[in-house]
Amino acid sequence: MRDFECIDNHMIIGGIRAADLAEEYGTPIFVTDEEAVRENYRAIYQAFSRRMPTRINYACKANSNLAILRILEQEGSCIDAVSIGEVEACLRAGFSPDRILYTGVNVSNHELAALVNRNVMINIDSMSELERLAEITSNANISFRMNPEVGAGYHEKVVTGARSTKFGIPKNKIIDAYARAIELDFCPVGLHAHIGAGVQDVKPFANVTDVLVSVAQELETKLGIQLDFIDIGGGIGIPYYPDEEPMDLELLADEVTSRISNGTSAKNVVLEPGRYIIGDTTVLLTTVVDLKETPDKWFAGVDAGFNTLVRPAFYGSYHHATVANKFELPGELTYDIVGPICETGDHLAKDRLLPRLEEGDVIAVYDAGAYGFSMSSQYNMRPKCREVLVRKGSSNLIRERESIDDLLRQDRIPSRLMI
Ligand SMILES: Cc1ncc(COP(=O)(O)O)c(C=O)c1O
Repeated sequence: MRDFECIDNHMIIGGIRAADLAEEYGTPIFVTDEEAVRENYRAIYQAFSRRMPTRINYACKANSNLAILRILEQEGSCIDAVSIGEVEACLRAGFSPDRILYTGVNVSNHELAALVNRNVMINIDSMSELERLAEITSNANISFRMNPEVGAGYHEKVVTGARSTKFGIPKNKIIDAYARAIELDFCPVGLHAHIGAGVQDVKPFANVTDVLVSVAQELETKLGIQLDFIDIGGGIGIPYYPDEEPMDLELLADEVTSRISNGTSAKNVVLEPGRYIIGDTTVLLTTVVDLKETPDKWFAGVDAGFNTLVRPAFYGSYHHATVANKFELPGELTYDIVGPICETGDHLAKDRLLPRLEEGDVIAVYDAGAYGFSMSSQYNMRPKCREVLVRKGSSNLIRERESIDDLLRQDRIPSRLMI
């Protein structure tokens, strides 16, 4: 969670009053601070690259806005993509294909062919995918996603590395997978695992690195494969609560790189952070449109719901919230901050002590950069909102608000229903 500057009781982001941004661009709106994106990227890249050659594959599922991708392209980042749509966005943002690693699950032949066409390296998730890829191409560099049987994460829905999940080649089949890849004339250059998301502890990363290192050693001794990279996936958590500590990046980098460089001849370490790079760079600004006192509680009705930020409703996630135009006023009443979606589960925050609210106040929901806009929807036929980039006192619109026409554009009414 970032500390925001306060001037005259107003929250400042990127040198601009949040309330002024809300007025200029309308709400709801995601506001991203460019400097914060650059800082986060540099922090993680430098922590690892000081110790061994490092490649950061930004997990663009967290936020795939083209302007955000441009910033990371300028920083020298590479990409973890999970769909052909993400690949296309990254190519259009200026990433060359060799800076993209595609890690899909349940990948169709159609998608495999499109990736081969675009020269994007594929991180294979299953034996079926390997055999199907061999029907399309050979001689390509590939890597494998292993199920490491090490899972972690802030919610059961985001634990991906546990044995029971759908992801990766089972640990006991991974050596056979490389042997088969060689038979099929592929060149296996990497080994990957991803434990889950929102992991605040170094331990699970050390554990998964141990598993990856022991597989890399077996690949060397049994098949003579010297890997170009070992990819420990993403999942580095960020503090969403005010009293949480950030990940100790130096310790994490030490634990991971010492294991890889002492235990294998792999040349590079790869990481795939999404949340760590973009999560705390962005606030969601939403206006109080309605206030309701019920026998049990106060509801602050705002113009963003789970269509705009789904994490609280979907994962029960906590996002810190403040009143951008009453930034330093003391808390007076406890509110649930709820949206316009017709479901009881539609909330952004519960039981928050805030200054007394009035219609028109602007609520800032923190840490909305990762899995915020990218998981937003048009549920209840509500157009997706604008995104704005701020930097040192100036702002740019980086995504236009959708219109009702945008929502209806793809619908078709058969002519027989028009009579
Ligand atoms: C394979 C893979 N890599 C990286 C990530 C990024 O995770 P995070 O944003 O938590 O760093 C994910 C998230 O789902 C993933 O599935």
